[in-house]
Amino acid sequence: MLLKEQLLKLKMIMFGGKGGVGKTSCAASSAIWAAEHGRNTLIISTDPAHSLGDSLGVELLPGVATPIKGIENLTALEINPKANMEEFKGLTTVNPMAEMGMSGLMEDLPMFGDLEELTSSTPPGIDEALAFGKILEFIETEHDYDLVIFDTAPTGHTLRFLSLPETLSGWIGKLIKMRLKIGNMLGAFKRLFSREEKDEENSLEVLKKLNNAILNAKDDLTNPIKNSFVIVMIPEEMAITETGRLLNELIKNSIPTSNIVVNQVYQDESELCDFCRARRKMQQKNLGKIQEIFGKKLNKNLIEIPLFREEIREYDSLKELGQYLIGSP
Ligand SMILES: Nc1ncnc2c1ncn2[C@@H]1O[C@H](COP(=O)(O)OP(=O)(O)O)[C@@H](O)[C@H]1O
Ligand SMILES: [Mg+2]
Repeated sequence: MLLKEQLLKLKMIMFGGKGGVGKTSCAASSAIWAAEHGRNTLIISTDPAHSLGDSLGVELLPGVATPIKGIENLTALEINPKANMEEFKGLTTVNPMAEMGMSGLMEDLPMFGDLEELTSSTPPGIDEALAFGKILEFIETEHDYDLVIFDTAPTGHTLRFLSLPETLSGWIGKLIKMRLKIGNMLGAFKRLFSREEKDEENSLEVLKKLNNAILNAKDDLTNPIKNSFVIVMIPEEMAITETGRLLNELIKNSIPTSNIVVNQVYQDESELCDFCRARRKMQQKNLGKIQEIFGKKLNKNLIEIPLFREEIREYDSLKELGQYLIGSP
């Protein structure tokens, strides 16, 4: 499905890729287009380095969904995952598995590496886990938006969390047998997934709820009539390798992807200086590879965007970007 069609039909679109390639610009431009075509659109950024507000030219307070003045149907929200760190306190203080003498279970849990990361005192990837948790929470929350656009979607690495239900279902069986309680960790998960705190709630119940939340979200995320992941990249060798890895993860987790944006492409040879001509040559070589691998072999739709003279910011240039991105005004 072309991006234009996706913007008119899907419930969710996620823009992902390396920093600085143009995710926020593409997400914002798409969101404006969708809103102007009658869809009540929410754009959510989970990037702690706030740039959605800057891109749209508005001030966004963290965690506050803000209707964008002058654009009917468009609301923007910046979540700072770090601000939610408090919610994770229980997770970050101890390793509950070790505390309960359950370390022996580790071999049976293919995901334990991730959980260990989550439960160590300075966990790497905690931002990712929080951002992912927030995305799940949004997918699972009832709302009136026709379309939700995620700027800074989960990376391939973060998508591992989607396998959690399989891991947890194995756990549940074991836990019932062993009549164990996972105190701290579940408390933290619970805080992440529900607003009210009922501490007396049965641990296993909470675990089952988490399990279901992820399974439901997974249903939505993997449904091609609901969601699509748009990869944004630049025509450089390293980006090709990285995009290949990301695509692998997306395929492995059944996340639909049909469009890849190749951004910041040098145009018109005649206008270029020596230096830029050399860069264009490098880019053209990589574009060839991108067309071969992602276009022909993997059957992805490639969207080429020129490098603009100016930074892409605010309404007019986001609209101009939209002409390349979506292909109509
Ligand atoms: N095609 C382009 N031409 C010129 N500048 C661009 C282009 N795409 C993105 N930019 C600029 O590059 C910077 C990074 O873009 P951004 O969308 O914030 O990337 P990301 O969200 O992936 O980090 C911004 O200043 C943006 O204006
Ligand atoms: Mg960004």
